[in-house]
Amino acid sequence: MMSKPVGCRDLKERILRGSEVVVLVALVSILGTFANLPGVRAQDSSEVYKRVYNGWKWWHVYCYRCHGVDALGSTLAPNLSDPSRKITYEEFFQTTRNGAPQKGMPAWNQLLDDKQITDLYTYVRARTERVLPPGRPDEAGANGGPWTPPEGWPKAQSVVLGPAFPTPASETTSSRRVYVTNEGSGDVTVIDAATDSVLATIPVGKRPRGIRVSPDRRTVYVALSGSPFAAPSARNEDLAPADKKADGIGVIDALTNKLIRILPGGSDPEQFVVSLDGTRLYVANEDASLASVVDVMSGKVIRTIPVGEEPEGVALSPDGKIVYVTAENSQTVSVIETETNQVKTTFKVGPMPRTAAFMPDGSRAYVTSETSATVSVVDTAQHRVTHTIKLEGQNVRPMGVAVAPDGKRVYVTTGHGGRVFVIDTSTHRVSASFEVGKRPWGIAITPDGKKIYIANGLSDDVSVVDAVTHRVIARIKVGERPWGVAIAP
Ligand code: HEC
Repeated sequence: MMSKPVGCRDLKERILRGSEVVVLVALVSILGTFANLPGVRAQDSSEVYKRVYNGWKWWHVYCYRCHGVDALGSTLAPNLSDPSRKITYEEFFQTTRNGAPQKGMPAWNQLLDDKQITDLYTYVRARTERVLPPGRPDEAGANGGPWTPPEGWPKAQSVVLGPAFPTPASETTSSRRVYVTNEGSGDVTVIDAATDSVLATIPVGKRPRGIRVSPDRRTVYVALSGSPFAAPSARNEDLAPADKKADGIGVIDALTNKLIRILPGGSDPEQFVVSLDGTRLYVANEDASLASVVDVMSGKVIRTIPVGEEPEGVALSPDGKIVYVTAENSQTVSVIETETNQVKTTFKVGPMPRTAAFMPDGSRAYVTSETSATVSVVDTAQHRVTHTIKLEGQNVRPMGVAVAPDGKRVYVTTGHGGRVFVIDTSTHRVSASFEVGKRPWGIAITPDGKKIYIANGLSDDVSVVDAVTHRVIARIKVGERPWGVAIAP
């Protein structure tokens, strides 16, 4: 009888077994710490559910395109839920982190942290052990409701918690990326907020306007529209017909800076938000008086919600429960509940509302009104306007709005007014204003609150403003007719 040669995999497994002991020792100490925390039980089934759900989510953001939906494999990459090949946590962790680039498996250490990889493993393990049916964990349970982890699953704590690997130092918020849509040139400019230099220009399609980064910063969504660009003086009958095929939501992979997919977004999508869990988009469809709810994973519009006439601005409350959709013609804001995807109430604001933004604590929202040069302050508990702030000056047409992360100031761009106004949220008064480029439009603030980025639609550049001194510290050349700005959260 021939003795079995010691293959590479066997050797790897032996080494791994050795290190598992170390991991176990570390685990025991983590578990000890967990057990001492009041109210935290390591195997709490809601914690297991959360981990599996997150793992499923990441899977269908990054892994499914090679390893197949439901972890079943495809022609591009192996089935990871094959019960006959139960991959160990260690193997999974190392392969996912470092990849096998020569064999076509990318390294994910730049995109996924240790906890996210552990969540992915927990999901894959639930599929391998056949305790989780195919589909979304929030719909895979009894009567299409959330799945419940079986009592006592998983047996190995590492499946849920992972070992005590050191997590990489978190990046500083000033090293974030800034994304700018260029409505005229049909592309997105990527700026490094640490150096204020342009990293990439990504062609995306027709008339990119609204732009948002997913909560995990891995995906950038951009609204595309085949409706013709119309100057304010243009008459409808002079315009070319809309090219509806060009409507959609472009999906950019933030790692490679490439457009990887176009999702449907309803008719003429302009602004939108990403739900807190990153799985849904709420899109305003200006010419249809609708908001579309897009399921990112399936790439389908799962609901269309009637809102006011000519909806445009879309804002998500910080707790993710409410979406405000502003409607220009009806001068209203529709309040959509994300749990039910229904309009809970509608309220009046100033004329021609363009955009809305919430305070970080969710207590108030600010809505810009273009034709009255005002900003409506909304009490979000009552969904009611409590103050109206007038912005004085020539041609002032309030458009973009951003709230500082500390909630003390609100910044409003004014289009042909050429200035950005600063509102003190404690007094509801304008405390300052400063000049930027021509027709300032989209605006965003870095998460550390230090810098403000403003898209200047008619000077084809972005102004970078110091949030303390209100001085323009850089002007960055971008594409044609820059429109929206988004900064990774
Ligand atoms: C671009 C395609 C691609 C993507 C995307 C991808 N993989 Fe892979 N993956 C592969 C290929 C190909 C292999 C097989 C490599 C080999 O033959 O060693 C592989 C192998 C693996 C293995 C080792 C399997 C084993 O049996 O040893 C793991 C674990 C894995 N991938 C996890 C992931 C996870 C988790 C993700 C998502 C974060 C992911 N992969 C995304 C292509 C991909």
